[in-house]
Amino acid sequence: MDRLLQRVSTTTGCDVDRVVRADGTEVAIKRARDEAAAAHLASQTRHLRAMSAHLGVASIYPPIIEATASTLVLPWYRRGTLEDQFATQPRADAEAVVRVAADALFRVAAGGRELPDPARAPAFLADELVRRARRLRLALETADGQRFAAHETEVARALDALERWVARSDGFRAIGLPALGLCAHGDFGLDNALVRDDGQPLFIDVRGEAVWHRDLPWWDPLLDLATLLVYHCRIEPQIRAICDDVGAARLDSSKRVSEPELRRLCVQTDGFGLWAADDDTWEPRLELAMLVRLLGSVSTQLTATPRHQTERATAVWRLAVAQLAAVKAVLGG
Ligand SMILES: Nc1ncnc2c1ncn2[C@@H]1O[C@H](COP(=O)(O)OP(=O)(O)OP(=O)(O)O)[C@@H](O)[C@H]1O
Ligand SMILES: [Mg+2]
Repeated sequence: MDRLLQRVSTTTGCDVDRVVRADGTEVAIKRARDEAAAAHLASQTRHLRAMSAHLGVASIYPPIIEATASTLVLPWYRRGTLEDQFATQPRADAEAVVRVAADALFRVAAGGRELPDPARAPAFLADELVRRARRLRLALETADGQRFAAHETEVARALDALERWVARSDGFRAIGLPALGLCAHGDFGLDNALVRDDGQPLFIDVRGEAVWHRDLPWWDPLLDLATLLVYHCRIEPQIRAICDDVGAARLDSSKRVSEPELRRLCVQTDGFGLWAADDDTWEPRLELAMLVRLLGSVSTQLTATPRHQTERATAVWRLAVAQLAAVKAVLGG
């Protein structure tokens, strides 16, 4: 009989439970609560399976113990996430694991570099940005979205202007990425990588919905660096100032790494060097990727957080507006 030790996480879509099995082993059971969450979990499982098989013994993922239509069972890792390392371990040790994780992520991306669909790669980030703008427009129609829009009256107009700008900007075409990389993660937050007993980081909660080509997931790895920077250094400190009862905002400022430091940790790895050697537009693309992440997070604050939705969305929207100005300064517009 399974015995529940702890309910670790409940997002709007999934529960994650720490469970002891009859044979005494501890596992993490991620369980989808509805059909949409089950579809998302299935695409994560596909991503984990495909990339684990592709990397073989060099896999940077936990082994899958069991997967059904609505569950994913992984071994339980008692050292916790990269974020837990910052909460509980000396700073230098936590940073060392982040460096290993970033190195692996870009090494994997650089090891598989392709142009699966020539029309797709140059416009990849512009498409991602437009998709986030559309998703936010839909989120504005919910009750929380309407409260937010009544407060931030410029949002709808700003989204229209953003889409028009993307369509006509020469800057976007100039920074098109040369090829997509293998998608090693896709949601590279400090809470989405675990640490094995031997110190090896392992990626969980991977993206799933990438560009699938030759049965492997592809995308722009700069979006992963953007996720790490934007969540740790910009979004989470803002959320923590609004409500400090959520996992993502757990670290106080003394435990956080500054954005320049975190960026340096990642770009000074050999793996990043391998990727950047053939990518001369990565710096402006990183700015754009951070805008994609910020804009995407406004919708998430509105539709997938339990409380303070309007305040949270407002704080992140203001970060997105500031980042849009930074992107325009780089790309022109
Ligand atoms: N195998 C595991 N061992 C230890 N802790 C785990 C394990 N799997 C998950 N966790 C903990 O549970 C948290 C949530 O897991 P996960 O990131 O897979 O789901 P989620 O973020 O809630 O889901 P989603 O974003 O897909 O809705 C992790 O951040 C980590 O703290
Ligand atoms: Mg997660």
